[in-house]
Amino acid sequence: MDFIIILTIILSVLSMKSNGANNSFDQYYTYLWGTDHFWVNPQGTEVQLKMDKNSGGAGFKSKLDFGSGSFHIKLKTPDKRTRGIVTSFYLTSNPDDGTPQENHFELDFEFWGMDRMVQTNIFLNDGGRREQRFHLWFDPSKDFHMYQIIWNSHQIVFMVDNIPIRVFKNNSAKGITFPNKSMHADASIWNAPFAGPVTWSEAPFIAQYQDFGFDACSAPAKSGDISHCSSQQYFWNKPEYWELSAAQKQQMNKYKKSYMFYDYCSNKITWKPECSLNE
Ligand SMILES: *[C@@H]1O[C@H](CO)[C@@H](O)[C@H](O)[C@H]1NC(C)=O
Ligand SMILES: *[C@@H]1O[C@H](CO)[C@@H](O)[C@H](O)[C@H]1NC(C)=O
Ligand SMILES: *[C@@H]1O[C@H](CO)[C@@H](O)[C@H](O)[C@H]1NC(C)=O
Repeated sequence: MDFIIILTIILSVLSMKSNGANNSFDQYYTYLWGTDHFWVNPQGTEVQLKMDKNSGGAGFKSKLDFGSGSFHIKLKTPDKRTRGIVTSFYLTSNPDDGTPQENHFELDFEFWGMDRMVQTNIFLNDGGRREQRFHLWFDPSKDFHMYQIIWNSHQIVFMVDNIPIRVFKNNSAKGITFPNKSMHADASIWNAPFAGPVTWSEAPFIAQYQDFGFDACSAPAKSGDISHCSSQQYFWNKPEYWELSAAQKQQMNKYKKSYMFYDYCSNKITWKPECSLNE
């Protein structure tokens, strides 16, 4: 009896370890900024990013650059309520050293710290301004949820707990730019003036991340070539990922109808030509 219990404990510790090693922070990511506001546990299974008045926040980035993939992370936003503090997970072609360039590719998840709000945005070698905003159907500060971006040469899909909430199609045949440069994954917490004034009396604000593994095709930023990343040897490039299934489309429309409260396509001033092409 005792022996079996001990054996079970040993086996579960071993399996936790091997999962950890295969999915660990160090395997995929590296520290980017925030020194004492960045913390990773010894097993590499959890990262905390802290924001307070004495810091510019903290962040980490993937070790490599990629030309396609299925990227995901689990995160829990700070439990202290405020505006102005954004927790993020995104892909970007911007180099992390040096000044950010206005013209670059970027795919964003940004949590605004209030009202269960998440914003997605897309930069197409330009200044972006393709925001969609949702009130989530759960409190993102209570539990870890999975946020995912699937990118292949046919479409980009944003998903929350496997529910598609946004699709951006490759309509380059119709003159719409589609990401054609390598990007890396970034995660961060920072003070974003566009998200409103911060309630500093609630600080520190701590974002937590888990589940660091992802599947993607490596494409060094230096070479600038991502064409090898559309190979169907990668699962996310296979025909079933070229378009959402009928059931997924129905699900996305239902969630958009219920939870999306801002869409750049719904406003004459922010509308862009791709707006009529992403169905
Ligand atoms: C990673 O996972 C594979 C199977 O999924 C396993 O065989 C291997 O031992 C694991 N590696 C580490 C370093 O834990
Ligand atoms: C977009 O689709 C076109 C085909 O319509 C293809 O030739 C092109 O390589 C795709 N662009 C990217 C960046 O994958
Ligand atoms: C990538 O897209 C940009 C913007 O549409 C275009 O100017 C550039 O020629 C493209 N580069 C390649 C390698 O296809």
